[in-house]
Amino acid sequence: MRVSDERFETVVDADQPGVDPPYDHHDYVGTRLRAPREPLVILPPTLSEVTGPAFGESALAPSDADLTRQHDGEPHGQRIVVEGRVIGDDGRPLRGQLVEIWQANAAGRYRHAVDTHDAPLDPNFSGAGRCLTDQDGRYRFVTVKPGIYPWGNHPNAWRPAHIHFSLFGRAFTERLVTQMYFPDDPLFPFDPIFNAVRDELARARLVSTFDMSLTEPDWALGFRFDIVLGGRQATPLEEPHDG
Ligand SMILES: [Fe+2]
Repeated sequence: MRVSDERFETVVDADQPGVDPPYDHHDYVGTRLRAPREPLVILPPTLSEVTGPAFGESALAPSDADLTRQHDGEPHGQRIVVEGRVIGDDGRPLRGQLVEIWQANAAGRYRHAVDTHDAPLDPNFSGAGRCLTDQDGRYRFVTVKPGIYPWGNHPNAWRPAHIHFSLFGRAFTERLVTQMYFPDDPLFPFDPIFNAVRDELARARLVSTFDMSLTEPDWALGFRFDIVLGGRQATPLEEPHDG
């Protein structure tokens, strides 16, 4: 770990010391250029930000949460169910929260202009989904397992399979972002983004668990990923990045 403790302490979320990754993580090359060089200034939210327009339930369609049904045909890949709860540090469910995900297709390619990875796009997969949490704070997505992709951070750099998550909060200024990984990925020891979370137990909370109870017979495997905001069991959160 080459980020000094002094610098680390200036950039972590004060509510989750040692859990969130630092903005500047030397092994994650992109952070060297974009990490803040001065202490962060907290801007209190204004009334217009927390009362202004936000996504509402009426704007969501059922297919938004099923990434395998957003086109005429089905995407290639291993079909999976990803389910979990969004809960506060006191265990209370966070209801009606907009959960958004984005991911590479089964071949490890994003449908995005800057993704030039030599892997095929899938005409039946956009790689983006969203839903609202229910009364128990629960969300559920159907998708395909994302492929592993190279990302040029260093020679022979490959990202472990992952799904990006965003929690919108009450306004865009409250948006939180993290990543979900899959169990037993052999690339964990080599990934600077995963290892930017210094605490081993905190890193483990970024890894989903295979859950047979979520698995649908003859149809899809199931993975569980709970997101805890704050407290000792907090899920590490990050700034949006290019990995
Ligand atoms: Fe990614």
